Amino acid sequence: MPKVDRRLVAISGIGSAFGLAIARRFLSAGANVHGCDCDPAGLAEAAALGCHVAEVDLVDRPAARAWIARVEHDAGRAIDVLVNNAGGVAGQSHQRFDRVSDADWDTVIAVNLGAAMALSQAALGGMTRAGRGAIVNIASGAALRASMTGIQAYATAKHALLGLTRQLAHEFGPHGIRVNAVAPGLVITNAATQQQWQGYGDAGQDAILGGIALRRLGTPDDIARAVSFLASDDADFITGEILSVDGGR
Ligand SMILES: NC(=O)c1ccc[n+]([C@@H]2O[C@H](COP(=O)([O-])OP(=O)(O)OC[C@H]3O[C@@H](n4cnc5c(N)ncnc54)[C@H](O)[C@@H]3O)[C@@H](O)[C@H]2O)c1
Repeated sequence: MPKVDRRLVAISGIGSAFGLAIARRFLSAGANVHGCDCDPAGLAEAAALGCHVAEVDLVDRPAARAWIARVEHDAGRAIDVLVNNAGGVAGQSHQRFDRVSDADWDTVIAVNLGAAMALSQAALGGMTRAGRGAIVNIASGAALRASMTGIQAYATAKHALLGLTRQLAHEFGPHGIRVNAVAPGLVITNAATQQQWQGYGDAGQDAILGGIALRRLGTPDDIARAVSFLASDDADFITGEILSVDGGR
């Protein structure tokens, strides 16, 4: 396990499958883990693991920034690691592009991109003063090509998250801060991904698995291991990188 002990770690969307797996990974290394989510059940799971949790609607960017300030205040120090994991499709499914409403578009952009912008902006002040820090953004295969979900705003937001990753890496590298992204392939984590997977049918599922070099779907732990590596000192000369964790395509 890469060294992340005693670090102050903040994870958005901590109540999701990836969020909980990432939290377990950091907790097992002795980190002080804080997380936020809008889902009380997920937050309760994270609290039971030993995380400090807060209910925050990350579409509200001032509220997102205020949560970072509270974490820093409570811990009495700058955040060492920020994981921008909150995101997803906000309960949406593919619609013809001419039928996509402004509200649906804005929600997906806000949770996948706006939240990462606000949380990073808030955390980078303390990281800059400390002269160190790491941000890991959870992107997607939909950041690199069209999304299997067919949701235009999701692909757009995840592509833009890579732009934010590279730009912040460039701007904050001189301050000792690294910014990287993990791009997971499909992992069955919730009702939406379960429904997506079942929708492919047997032949479609075989075709997807046949296109993956390692011939399996990923797990939340696969993603968590990549995140903890990028956050750790083992990756201390890696920044602005996009690490696909998809079994090879
Ligand atoms: N599961 C996959 O196949 C897959 C693949 C690629 C990328 N991802 C990305 O990984 C991340 C985690 O996904 P997941 O599959 O674990 O489950 P998920 O998509 O359900 O996770 C999203 C988490 O963010 C939280 N969230 C959503 N909107 C929020 C808001 N407005 N305020 C606060 N929290 C909010 C949700 O409650 C949930 O806990 C997401 O960014 C997702 O886009 C997932």
